[in-house]
Amino acid sequence: SPDGVGVHRIGGRIGARVDGVRLSGDLDDAVVARIRKAILRNKVVVFRGQGHLDDEAHIAFAERLGTLTTAHPTVNTGSERIYTLTANKGMAANSWHTDVTFVDRVPAFSILRGVTIPPYGGNTVWANTVDAYDRLPDSLKALVENLWAVHTNAYDYADREQGAHDDDEVAVARRQEFRRTTYETAHPVVRVHPETGERALLLGHFVKQFVGLNQLESSTLFNLLQNRVTRLENTIRWTWQQGDVAIWDNRATQHYAVADFGEEPREVRRITVAGDVPLSVDG
Ligand code: SIN
Repeated sequence: SPDGVGVHRIGGRIGARVDGVRLSGDLDDAVVARIRKAILRNKVVVFRGQGHLDDEAHIAFAERLGTLTTAHPTVNTGSERIYTLTANKGMAANSWHTDVTFVDRVPAFSILRGVTIPPYGGNTVWANTVDAYDRLPDSLKALVENLWAVHTNAYDYADREQGAHDDDEVAVARRQEFRRTTYETAHPVVRVHPETGERALLLGHFVKQFVGLNQLESSTLFNLLQNRVTRLENTIRWTWQQGDVAIWDNRATQHYAVADFGEEPREVRRITVAGDVPLSVDG
């Protein structure tokens, strides 16, 4: 293309790599618009070789995509805008989720920068929640169309996460901080994307229960739908290099950080762009 920006699909249903952009640069509005379009179309885009990006440049670029949220609603991140995620025993992001769905206004975009990448493992996997909805049989679409789910940050990590160490003091303290203030927010299971008009399944590990269903019924239906979201054909898996940046549309994806890097260090830094209150098919 004339601006030197190349968008290359890296998966059948989700994911693209964007080449020819220096994110710390003084980017033209047209380039930012192309990046935004690539995110909306591919749900997650990755950039290699952005090691020049420091916290300030990371924030400056993120602001081109919208208004930023606080770094995290409950965790004391030590920074107003940047959430530094390190290998947190018992608090790793190794279960399928959409970021921060327990608040009213679910973030629109997450922009993640690879700062320290382990020599092996530590991939991130994203799933396309629009495609998962589209492929549901009509009977299931009808079932979930008017269904609402309660999302909470007080969910049971020990129950959901593989390899969580309940007896680990650090892990317990981190969980307590994560739950410092309890949020419980009902969102439609089928949300209409405010920019694309696409319908997506809004689920992930913060879901506590479906409105009107009991616990057992909720977990049965949750597993059915969640399996549709996370089937491998519906995902893209990224092997990080130091200096990579990934941006995902948090309104059209779930993700999972694979915790298979042993005691190796891993640090990524995330900034989130504010989003809207999710709308159901009835508006
Ligand atoms: C996250 O859940 O936002 C972090 C993903 C990752 O560490 O790869």
